Amino acid sequence: MYSLEELQSICDDAIGSLGYNREPRLLYRPIEYTLEAGGKRIRPVLLLAACQMFGGRVEDALSAAMAVEVFHNFTLLHDDIMDNAPTRRGRDTVHKKWNSNIAILSGDAMVISSYDILSSSRSDKLPELLADFTLLGKGVCEGQLYDMEFENRNDVSLDEYIEMIRLKTAVLIAGAARMGAIIGGADETGKDNIYRFGTDLGLAFQIQDDLLDTYGNPETFGKEIGGDIAEGKKTFLLITALSALDESGRKKLLEELSSDRDRNDKLQRVRAIYDAAGVREKAQEAIERYYAEAIRHLDAINRPDSCKEALMTLADKLIKRDY
Ligand code: IPE
Ligand code: IPE
Ligand code: MG
Ligand code: MG
Ligand code: MG
Repeated sequence: MYSLEELQSICDDAIGSLGYNREPRLLYRPIEYTLEAGGKRIRPVLLLAACQMFGGRVEDALSAAMAVEVFHNFTLLHDDIMDNAPTRRGRDTVHKKWNSNIAILSGDAMVISSYDILSSSRSDKLPELLADFTLLGKGVCEGQLYDMEFENRNDVSLDEYIEMIRLKTAVLIAGAARMGAIIGGADETGKDNIYRFGTDLGLAFQIQDDLLDTYGNPETFGKEIGGDIAEGKKTFLLITALSALDESGRKKLLEELSSDRDRNDKLQRVRAIYDAAGVREKAQEAIERYYAEAIRHLDAINRPDSCKEALMTLADKLIKRDY
């Protein structure tokens, strides 16, 4: 049984040897640049940890884990264009360092590459894996569409928000976990439980990301603070504030958000309204609630506790992160 740290270093090594040192450099260099910047590698580690929990060999799941991580990194290249984001992992985003066309095309190459990597796994479960991979990819696109569409709406409900983040974030995390379970030989109940674990963990994770986007430390977070406010994103914070405030408070918040004030000024003002509405505490509560649900699904899996250790530690680390 590998520890979380060991799984992490197995992933890091495998990513380092993916081999994008090819021509044309303008297509492949941005891919190397993105992958070498690290990131938490949550999804591939989760996939490997799920595989070993169900009794599978980590080595057999490595291609699927790499496919998922390359796919995730593709979503970031395109997401940063859509979100106008200048920084990621403490560096310039690809569309800033090169340009949007390069970020679109390198991203396209990454999706294709991710299918290529997945297809190379020798698993007899390949058809099931490909179906799952395609399903999670569609989910991300659907979620990203809602994310953009909601920028122009002020009446997004909490349920609509949860469905949007389930699609844009949780399906990839849950899908990665289930792919690991498939390779590990889980039965249908096991696959369902790990998928639910991943879904609730993914929801907690995205609410945490929303929280950090407004309140995080830019040094550790690696992304510019206040991007969601600047872009009019319907985050957990905004939706919660809108429902906690009275009519005049709501009006004031929406005015602040649509004002053309300087970015930092706007961030400070919106934050002050959030603080007064107790939004931070509400977000923290929601994160803990989804985390507890996630653990409940993990507990329901019929495997010894010793096999669940890496997954437990990972889940724990994720909700306590400040990056
Ligand atoms: C960023 O994902 C996109 C979200 C779903 C919030 P991560 O926070 O996992 O990004 P990296 O890979 O660790 O940089
Ligand atoms: C995460 O959305 C979902 C995807 C990247 C697909 P965000 O837009 O919140 O992610 P970050 O904050 O840019 O990493
Ligand atoms: Mg973004
Ligand atoms: Mg986004
Ligand atoms: Mg974000």
